[in-house]
Amino acid sequence: MNKVCKKITYLPSVPKKLIDDLLEIEKYKNVFPEPEYADHYSSHVAKKNLEEWAQKQFSYPVVTRYQIVRKNLPIHKDVGIVGTKYNYLITLGGKDVRTRWWSDDKDPKEMIYEKAWTNQDINQWYEINIETAHQVINVEEPRISITIRKAE
Ligand SMILES: [Fe+2]
Repeated sequence: MNKVCKKITYLPSVPKKLIDDLLEIEKYKNVFPEPEYADHYSSHVAKKNLEEWAQKQFSYPVVTRYQIVRKNLPIHKDVGIVGTKYNYLITLGGKDVRTRWWSDDKDPKEMIYEKAWTNQDINQWYEINIETAHQVINVEEPRISITIRKAE
């Protein structure tokens, strides 16, 4: 079993009424530390009702955001966060969007795992390793997700 992208079932589905649409989400403050990168990726503060719902699912403090991926993301490790985060896909972002994880201790890099995202993955929780180098390819339209991580 791969260790970088696990479907998890111990978190409940997010109630539909708590999920905003793209036009609303993009008005929320983008708190990604590289705002100049917003044409590729942005991370938006969620409304209180979604934050509170998310916090109830955890015994430790968490941070909840909307993420929007608008273009392919090159191989990277997430900034300002370590380990794993939980992702809940709202839109796929294209017909054949894939996330690839790469080993970074070898040169040339070796692909560890590839996840091809399908409609079955929408409204499901995934635990994603963001400490291992990864990329997102084949993005054609906004790929929206809710993400939850442990607060520092
Ligand atoms: Fe990432």
